[in-house]
Amino acid sequence: MSDRLQGKVALITGAGGGIGRASAERMAREGAAVMCADIDTQAAEGTVALIEQAGGTADSLGVDVSDEAQVQRAIAATAERFGKLNVLFNNAGVGAGFSWDQTVAINLTGVFYGLWHGVRHLAANGGGVIINTASIAGLVGLSGATGVSADEMQPGGPAYIAAKHGVVGLTKQFAVSHGAAGVRVNAIAPGFIETAMTQEMRDDPDTREYLTSLHPLGRLGRAEEIAAVAAFLASDDASFINGVTLPVDGGYTAR
Ligand SMILES: NC(=O)c1ccc[n+]([C@@H]2O[C@H](COP(=O)([O-])OP(=O)(O)OC[C@H]3O[C@@H](n4cnc5c(N)ncnc54)[C@H](O)[C@@H]3O)[C@@H](O)[C@H]2O)c1
Repeated sequence: MSDRLQGKVALITGAGGGIGRASAERMAREGAAVMCADIDTQAAEGTVALIEQAGGTADSLGVDVSDEAQVQRAIAATAERFGKLNVLFNNAGVGAGFSWDQTVAINLTGVFYGLWHGVRHLAANGGGVIINTASIAGLVGLSGATGVSADEMQPGGPAYIAAKHGVVGLTKQFAVSHGAAGVRVNAIAPGFIETAMTQEMRDDPDTREYLTSLHPLGRLGRAEEIAAVAAFLASDDASFINGVTLPVDGGYTAR
C-alpha cells in the first residue's frame, strides 16, 4: 500500500459504514489521520477502532450533515484535533426511502454545507481537496425491474435523483470558483455497491439479478472499490483533476 496520504488530515462524513468506513480505512492505510464523522456516533467509533487496530490514526465525531452549524463545527474540530485539514469527503447520504425534504436536506444541502464551509477553510489554509459522493443517479435516471406506476411512486426515488444531480452541479461550480485558491473539487458516481443502503434490494434475488444485469462487469461493486478512487482523488496523483464526476460503476452509465 502506498503512503501517498502521509501527513494529510481527512474528514469523512458517513464514515460509520459502507463507502465512508471503507474510505476512512483506506485513507488511514495510505497515511492520513482521519476524522470519522457520522450521525451514528457509535458506528463512527467502530470505524476508529478498526483503523487503530490496523495501526492508523483516527478519531470520531457526531455530525448531522443536514445541520449547517454541525458541519461547520466538524471542520473546525478536525483542524483543532489534528492541527490542519487537507481533505474533506462529503459522503454521508441516505437511500430512496425518505421524504423529498429529508432526502434533499441530507443528500444535497448536506453536501452544500460541506462545500460552503470546506472551501473557506481550505482556501484560507493554502488549499486542499474536496470529494463528494454523487451516484449514477446523479448522471442518469434509474429503472426498476418491474417499472413503477404513478400510483406506486414514492417521493424518495425522484428526490434521490434530483439531489445527486445537484451534487454533480455543485461539484462543477465549486471546482470552477475555487480552483485558483488551490482547492480541487471532484465527485464519485458509484454504481450499485454492496453496503447497508442496498441490503434490502440485494436480499431479493430477482432485484439483485436485475441490478447486476445493469452493470456490464456482471456484478455489483464493493465499498473498497469506491474507497480506492476516493484515496486517489485525495492524493497528489490526481493533482490536475478538478470538477469531474467520475463514474465508478462497472460500466453502468456506458450503455
Ligand atoms: N450503496 C450504493 O449503491 C450507492 C450508490 C451510489 C451512491 N451511494 C452514496 O454513497 C454514500 C454512502 O452510502 P453507503 O452506500 O456507504 O451507505 P451506508 O448506509 O452504508 O452509509 C451511509 C452512512 O451515512 C450516515 N448518515 C446518514 N445520514 C446522515 C446524516 N444526516 N449525517 C451524517 N451521517 C449520516 C449513516 O449513519 C451511515 O453510516 C451516500 O451518499 C450514498 O447516496 C451509494
